[in-house]
Amino acid sequence: MSLEKTLSIIKPDAVKRDLTGKIIAMFEEKGLRVVAQKKIWLSKEQAGSFYDVHRDRPFFGELCEFMSSGPIVVQVLEGNSAIELNREIMGATNPDQAEPGTIRKEFALSMTENSAHGSDSSETAREEISFFFSGLEILQF
Ligand code: CMP
Repeated sequence: MSLEKTLSIIKPDAVKRDLTGKIIAMFEEKGLRVVAQKKIWLSKEQAGSFYDVHRDRPFFGELCEFMSSGPIVVQVLEGNSAIELNREIMGATNPDQAEPGTIRKEFALSMTENSAHGSDSSETAREEISFFFSGLEILQF
């Protein structure tokens, strides 16, 4: 087990329904600590830039519309095996396939409006964290 940082987004569907506190509690209960956090509202272009890897996928337009439809909470989570643990706590991308007790099973409305995003590898985590945060904004212990 190694101490890692990962990028987490609480998506517009969850922020709108005031689920931010409940979702953060789910991370903290499993040992992930918030070391950076802010609430922001992306433009469609900024959402497209963040999800650039999906630009050619059929859901890209809908994803960018949704991610710019309201405020999001972006945060850096730190903990042992944080990248994998964050993904376990979120559950499968498709809420129908997510395990009971996961964020997406409990709260997601659809595959697009799926309440949370998390980095999928250490390289992606580095890139995604630096997309939203400068070094000075991340708490160092
Ligand atoms: P996320 O983990 O943020 O990464 C890309 C997002 O695209 C994903 O969650 C979903 O919200 C959205 N999405 C919509 N349709 C699909 C699909 N068919 N496959 C993967 N991701 C999808």
